Amino acid sequence: MPSAKIAPSMLASDFAHLAAEAKRVVKNGADWLHLDVMDGHFVPNITLGAPIIASLRPHTDAYFDCHMMVADPARWIEDIAKAGGQMYCFHLEATDDPLSVIDKIHKAGMQAGVAIKPDTPAEAVMGPVAEAADMILVMSVEPGFGGQKFMPQCMPKVETLRKKYPNKDIEVDGGVSMSTIDQSADAGANVIVAGTGIFKAEDPSDVISTFREKVNTAQQKFAAAANQ
Ligand code: DX5
Ligand code: ZN
Repeated sequence: MPSAKIAPSMLASDFAHLAAEAKRVVKNGADWLHLDVMDGHFVPNITLGAPIIASLRPHTDAYFDCHMMVADPARWIEDIAKAGGQMYCFHLEATDDPLSVIDKIHKAGMQAGVAIKPDTPAEAVMGPVAEAADMILVMSVEPGFGGQKFMPQCMPKVETLRKKYPNKDIEVDGGVSMSTIDQSADAGANVIVAGTGIFKAEDPSDVISTFREKVNTAQQKFAAAANQ
């Protein structure tokens, strides 16, 4: 059964105090740190890249989940690996050869994730790509900015993928909060990204533990149903 991993998105943190912000969410129960890399080409925004990830690396042992919103996913693999990235999650829409990108990521010693935008169907990633990937990310907003509204219409894709891949990490990213976690967890996501929902919360530890509980409860139901 895939375990719950709660991944605060550092995009919603105070970038002037990145290390302290990372430690704050880890202390409050975060499993992973979600690092949104944007290049101004694949998405209309620029955030951070390998040098900043490398600067943060010595300050925490947390798993670095790098969400690569970049136009040329193969180009940054070596840099992110050297910087200490552990998951390299690229967008299916950004490449014609996802299998070779996955292979390069694995050769660089990282896990490989494949992300799909709201308009990309689940079927586009299903098959050899999903099988080769360690994680599938179903975006629940258009990538590019934090603080957007959750798109529930993306959840049927999570359901389809969970049914097909009962043991794979499936991540949801965008607009996840206390009011939308049920939809993500019940659809079958086990990796939960939240920027605003965690960093702007009064009690981030309550949010993180609630997310974990809801994911684990839903995953137990899936496992029980599969064993019947
Ligand atoms: C959006 C990023 C998300 C973003 C989520 O393009 O991929 O990771 O930080 O932020 P919230 O949780 O505020 O929607
Ligand atoms: Zn992200």
